[in-house]
Amino acid sequence: MHAQAVGHRPFPPSDAPFRARAPFACPRPVHAHPVPEGREAAPASAGTAHPMTTRSSDGEAACGRPADLPRLYGPTPDTGRDSLWDELRERHGPVAAVELEPGVRAWLLLGYRENLTVLQSPHLFSRDTRRWREVIEGRVDLSAARPTLSWRPNVLYADDAEHTRLRTPIVSALSRVDMAAAARDVRRIADGLIDAFIADGEADLIGGFADPLPVLVLNRLYGLPDGYGHMLGDLTGVVFGDDARRAEDAVVRIQQYFAGLVARKRSAPGHDLASWMLEHANGLTDHEVAHQAALMNSAGHLPTTHLIGNTMHTLLTDERIRAAHADARLSVRELLDHVMWTDTPFQVLPARFALQDVRIGAAEVRAGDALLIGFDPAHRDPAVRRGREETGVVSGARAHLMFGAGPHACPARELARLIAATGVSALHERLAGLRPAVDPVLLRRVPSPFVRGLAVLPVEFTPGEPGPRPAADPEPAPGPDAEEAPREESDDLLGRLFAWWWSLRR
Ligand code: HEM
Repeated sequence: MHAQAVGHRPFPPSDAPFRARAPFACPRPVHAHPVPEGREAAPASAGTAHPMTTRSSDGEAACGRPADLPRLYGPTPDTGRDSLWDELRERHGPVAAVELEPGVRAWLLLGYRENLTVLQSPHLFSRDTRRWREVIEGRVDLSAARPTLSWRPNVLYADDAEHTRLRTPIVSALSRVDMAAAARDVRRIADGLIDAFIADGEADLIGGFADPLPVLVLNRLYGLPDGYGHMLGDLTGVVFGDDARRAEDAVVRIQQYFAGLVARKRSAPGHDLASWMLEHANGLTDHEVAHQAALMNSAGHLPTTHLIGNTMHTLLTDERIRAAHADARLSVRELLDHVMWTDTPFQVLPARFALQDVRIGAAEVRAGDALLIGFDPAHRDPAVRRGREETGVVSGARAHLMFGAGPHACPARELARLIAATGVSALHERLAGLRPAVDPVLLRRVPSPFVRGLAVLPVEFTPGEPGPRPAADPEPAPGPDAEEAPREESDDLLGRLFAWWWSLRR
């Protein structure tokens, strides 16, 4: 460990099994910017309104001008950013300064141990974005920041006692979910989505399956019919789409969905997540429950979508993994863990904010600095890449960081595994002769510094028959064609929202 700088507390503690490798040096421009060969990175000034409003800093960046730093924004290379992580590790050790948005600097944690230790040290690192120096000094406007870097009154952005107050009802509600019944629901919904395209012999497994499945399942766990799930899925799609004006409107509609959900469950409680959070002894207000329910939807959606998508991509493109899964050497659960090591649905997670000056590896982190959790870099850390090269399989190893660690660790990991495993199994069982419809090298990744997944996954298969509906199926198949018009005459907020959405579809 290097000599401690004045006012800096060494971090991780001195018994940590790693050492700083080199004195901290300002990173020179690295040529492995996340730009695929033959393409140009968007210049910092390119594009229209940026999701994050910044003013140029008149202060000294801790190290160099932000423009000199490797960029995490701009197009995602189709091969991912693996070579960037490796080069940064080579040059800077376990922590590197990066540019998160034009002019916005952050530390990226590259080492497995450093990531884990930061996640497990809430006394040194806050999850509350309002503690970010860029926000305090007015260079980042949280109200205009992209959703992952904004602030909401929910558990994800809370620390300490407030975090516990908000998290306990969520954990309690999730513990009351009947997992056997949930498994049947997930399979029914997955089968309904497959029924909508199985006769075509072709489909996009992201848009037609992996994207809608988690939203539909959560909607059921909130105790609402599938039609509401399709509405929520549509609105969520608009939020993540390209039309900023429609996205703003969709955000308001999603707030109405959750406010309406909570109002309905307050007056008529049921056996569902929203009702259980409302009745918890911590006494969350309706407004607070609506925010926690909205978070569960947003936190559960994209990672589950891309866990399914990345798993199907792995099965379609990695012969060794496909063979191991086909002859039952690799169960579907082990397959998911393998993908969470090797093709993480989140490559980077925002963020933690230093509560005091601290040294990590060779980096002098100042109070208020942002630290990005590097899932993908951590999983490529040579310290944990055991045996992968020989077999191609990382099986049975749940020590990946994909569900987080410390106080904010995902409270829904069993549910997430259930949704992803059931979805992958349904596709595997029902789509005979499944193969990619395009050369896999042409597949494009979602352009995000955070998410790691495919925008589309076109496949072909032998056309099949939609499955028979069980006689006692309480719900119509979730495909849009099988939908019925709203049967309820409910005039509450949720009912009016549903009627509005339904009118747009006619
Ligand atoms: C494969 C799917 C999933 C992955 C990889 C995943 C991963 C994570 C991670 C890494 C965190 C920690 C965030 C942080 O430390 O800043 C987290 C938190 C959270 N996740 Fe998940 N998640 C998944 C699915 C779900 C689902 C389905 C739900 C809801 C039913 C959910 C609800 C939450 C909530 C509420 C939190 C915040 C917990 C807190 O701040 O205390 N997640 N998740």
